[in-house]
Amino acid sequence: MTENHTQNTGIPKMRARNVDVYYGTKQAIDDVSIDVHEEHVTAFIGPSGCGKSTFLRALNRMNDTIPSAKVSGTIELEGEDIYASGMDVVQLRARVGMVFQKPNPFPKSIYENIAYGPKIHGLAEGKGALDEVVERSLRRAGLWEEVKDRLEDSGTALSGGQQQRLCIARAIAVDPEVILMDEPCSALDPIATAKIEELIAELRGRYAIVIVTHSMQQAARVSQRTAFFHLGKMVEYGKTSDIFTNPRETRTKDYITGRYG
Ligand SMILES: Nc1ncnc2c1ncn2[C@@H]1O[C@H](COP(=O)(O)OP(=O)(O)OP(=O)(O)O)[C@@H](O)[C@H]1O
Ligand SMILES: [Mg+2]
Repeated sequence: MTENHTQNTGIPKMRARNVDVYYGTKQAIDDVSIDVHEEHVTAFIGPSGCGKSTFLRALNRMNDTIPSAKVSGTIELEGEDIYASGMDVVQLRARVGMVFQKPNPFPKSIYENIAYGPKIHGLAEGKGALDEVVERSLRRAGLWEEVKDRLEDSGTALSGGQQQRLCIARAIAVDPEVILMDEPCSALDPIATAKIEELIAELRGRYAIVIVTHSMQQAARVSQRTAFFHLGKMVEYGKTSDIFTNPRETRTKDYITGRYG
């Protein structure tokens, strides 16, 4: 079982083993083991309520912010246990960045949205170094040309798609290793969605990316690995092309052919 849930394509960037997540007495994730690889996009798919967001949040300890949530099992980043008591959670969330469904720029300038993280993490000191990080991050997020003349405008004044790219730039600015995205396009129109998908394809060369999506087409377009979740379990994990053309499990097949969910 474990073998088919983990892929042998080099040392994984993140390694989760036997992860359970409870909210109070309700179990939301049941014994999930998965490897996430560098330079890969991994898609999490499955019907609403199956635990995709819960598991995604376990990967950078965002569940810590939910008082009833309890995570057990092991999750490692480069071999380091992220739930170990000595782990600096602020640092962890910089290494494993997150982009949410609803773009959530700070109510500050475009410049400050990007510069804030590098400043508090001590990654850039002085105006020159900060300017450089801001420009580089916005360029990588494909937003620089659109905003370079209005860096002092509020981040919240951008369009939804631009705000989402701003949030991606903000995640990139602190030099992450992994970027988690929870339905990053669900609030966007098809053109803004296409831009984010192109961006994901470019960013893949540099980071391990995990994306939750309800769109099979999106999973098929952007990911190399797909994990199918159902009722808190990870039912099947493999190459995206295999999952979509030749799933092993009936439940996966039923889901991708639209029988439920
Ligand atoms: N903060 C919370 N407190 C209590 N229960 C929660 C909380 N967040 C999620 N749950 C429960 O955990 C289960 C998994 O939810 P989760 O949000 O992870 O699913 P999902 O697969 O992301 O769904 P969707 O596709 O609708 O976003 C659900 O039964 C949900 O009701
Ligand atoms: Mg969700």
